[in-house]
Amino acid sequence: MHVRAATRTSEEYLSRQAKFESNARTYPRKLPLAIKRAHGIHLVDVNGTSYLDCLAGAGTLALGHNHPVVVAAVQRHLAEGAPLHTLDFTTPAKDEFVEALFATLPEPLRSRGRIQFCGPSGSDAIEAALKLTKIATGRRSILAFSGGYHGQTHGSLAMMGNLGPKANLPGLMADVHFLPFPHGTRCPLGCDRCDGEHSAGYVERLLRDPESGIAPPAAMVMEVVQGEGGSIPAPDNWLRRMRRLTEELGIPLVIDEVQTGWGRTGTLYAFERAGVVPDVLVLSKAIGGSLPLAVIVYREELDKWPPGAHTGTFRGNQLAMVAGRETLRYILDQDLPAHAAAMGRLLMERLTGLQTRHPFVGEVRGRGLMVGVEIIDPATTGPDGHAAYDGARARALQQACFERGVIVETGGRHGAVLRFLPPLVVTQHDVEQIAGIVGEACAATAGVATATHV
Ligand SMILES: Cc1ncc(COP(=O)(O)O)c(C=O)c1O
Repeated sequence: MHVRAATRTSEEYLSRQAKFESNARTYPRKLPLAIKRAHGIHLVDVNGTSYLDCLAGAGTLALGHNHPVVVAAVQRHLAEGAPLHTLDFTTPAKDEFVEALFATLPEPLRSRGRIQFCGPSGSDAIEAALKLTKIATGRRSILAFSGGYHGQTHGSLAMMGNLGPKANLPGLMADVHFLPFPHGTRCPLGCDRCDGEHSAGYVERLLRDPESGIAPPAAMVMEVVQGEGGSIPAPDNWLRRMRRLTEELGIPLVIDEVQTGWGRTGTLYAFERAGVVPDVLVLSKAIGGSLPLAVIVYREELDKWPPGAHTGTFRGNQLAMVAGRETLRYILDQDLPAHAAAMGRLLMERLTGLQTRHPFVGEVRGRGLMVGVEIIDPATTGPDGHAAYDGARARALQQACFERGVIVETGGRHGAVLRFLPPLVVTQHDVEQIAGIVGEACAATAGVATATHV
């Protein structure tokens, strides 16, 4: 019998999903949602339950769901009979997008940069950056950082810190060398308060060592704030030192701003805070205004790859370009990076306030609206000499938040970091509500004994 879609309950949709969709599916396992409507930070499922969405398409939705400027731009484009799909042919929509994007970039990218439209995922743009720098330098080894996340293709996955998704996958890109990423409270080199100086010194000595075992690299690839790795911001001075070093050694610096780009960390680009400029900038997520789009922008000196070196059928997503163009205009007009910085500060302040009542609330960290809360077992010491991560409690808290109408992600080592990535348009009222519900979730799970990961 044919059942009209609208008459099904969330539970029915979820069970149909479990029946038809791949075992590799992820979010619905932890956040059992069948979404009917969405606006701003709000989601409503088919049962009529409302949620505050602090996942926002994994940090994609800078303006939240269905923002009026995005909807209007898409409707206008459709009404004009303009094309939707154009491979890499140019169009007025593409030209305007490129012009607007370049206007936001620092020199020399602004006046002498090149752009490559990629298959519409962050991972594909990362693949493009790898090819570009390998071809330009004639080298093949890559420097990446522990805790990093750059996507799920064989090249991007090879640069992932988390070992789980790489298990049982032989043949990932070879010649990736992992370097320590500074971590304020859990220094990978064991110092008490990590300001990145030890890590920078180590990397510098390593890369200058003729016996380091690392062939001259094609690129250093990094996030300025590690996202999936658990909302870990790099110190400004460390980033400046990495920039200086890569410049001196002739190693192209690839900055992955797939998650941080367009205002999330309190500046339009996360690298701005340290006053550095990458050789290759990787962008996706927010730039498509909630539709799929991914690009790399790079220094013209690197533009040595031949025609066809990186293609992809869907690199001409016109709706994403107009939605992205309007999203950028709105972000700049409303100064959303400054708003994100203020809302992020407030959220971190409120979450930090939970530490006194709930000893399992560990470090609260992040930058702008990329906020993480480490969930720990204060009674157990982990192998790094700090309180053990408590991933099981983090999952219990995620569940308790969900039951109370707040959607948060978990990430970081052992999945023990609650991650908040609300839309940049989140209001003070929303933040208070979110923090209040997280507080209730903490109280509800306080007595629950959970296994710690050591
Ligand atoms: C920093 C970073 N790079 C790359 C990616 C991969 O993007 P995609 O999932 O669109 O392939 C992500 C996704 O979360 C990311 O956060």
